[in-house]
Amino acid sequence: MIKKGIILSGGMGTRMSPLTKAVNKQLLPIYDKPLIFYPLSILMLSKIKDILIIVNKGQLNQYKKILPNGERLGIKITYEEQDSPKGLPDAFILGEKFIGKDNVALILGDNFFYGQFLSQKLLDCSKLKNGAKVLLHRVASPEKYGVAKVKKNKITYIKEKPKKFISDLAITGLYFFDNKVIKFAKQLKPSKRNELEITDLLNKYKRINKLSADYIGRGGAWLDTGSLEDFYKTSAFVSAIENRQGFKIACIEEIALLNKWINKKQINDAIKFYGKCEYSSYLKKLIS
Ligand code: G1P
Repeated sequence: MIKKGIILSGGMGTRMSPLTKAVNKQLLPIYDKPLIFYPLSILMLSKIKDILIIVNKGQLNQYKKILPNGERLGIKITYEEQDSPKGLPDAFILGEKFIGKDNVALILGDNFFYGQFLSQKLLDCSKLKNGAKVLLHRVASPEKYGVAKVKKNKITYIKEKPKKFISDLAITGLYFFDNKVIKFAKQLKPSKRNELEITDLLNKYKRINKLSADYIGRGGAWLDTGSLEDFYKTSAFVSAIENRQGFKIACIEEIALLNKWINKKQINDAIKFYGKCEYSSYLKKLIS
């Protein structure tokens, strides 16, 4: 079982400036909650309770205002500051002490996942004992992502942002790794864009025949919040689902309650913490 997870929330959010000049991108709203709640909820749905959030230097205080240490959620949250973004695999170098001898999941702070069978899929993925596992999803513009070519359920080729069409299966920003990931990450050399590339890291696992894949599936959604336009589209998606069904997506207290990590008391504490707002009313309904 994977018990540790990293949320990579660094980066300057330059594409969304001026919105991101004073506030970290992951703290901006996706409809009714900060973006960071969504990747955090995915790790919590994977039953991961020990979480490291990697943030940009200088932005730690903003995060601690909304997610101090996880106690309220029955989980443990620690933080690590990153001087400058050096590519996704840097998470395993920065997080070496946090990971220790364990296996680890990585989720990108700006990735949004939703789907009926997602929770079960996440639980399956977090059973990983050795090797690496990625979640693939079909997209209309594969050139924007890392993509994988698959034959007979095996990944045969991986490429970061291919200019020529290789496959329309994007490698989403949720990865499950065994402990070798630290060693492999340290062996990587920066790419042409001067970053350590996650696809190079995955290729190391592929070479030793230890890379597996699963699919989010057609009924599930994986949305990108990379640009301003995508940000608003994701907000519209959440608003449409939540208002139609009356359920919230990524209500972290609700997930903690369902996982039996907290009880009514912590929900009441959360209500006090958030104050009089629609989110608190939803929490109140959960325990009434
Ligand atoms: C990164 C990864 C890419 C992956 C994507 C998912 O891209 O490099 O392989 O498909 O995240 O969001 P970036 O967002 O850094 O362009």
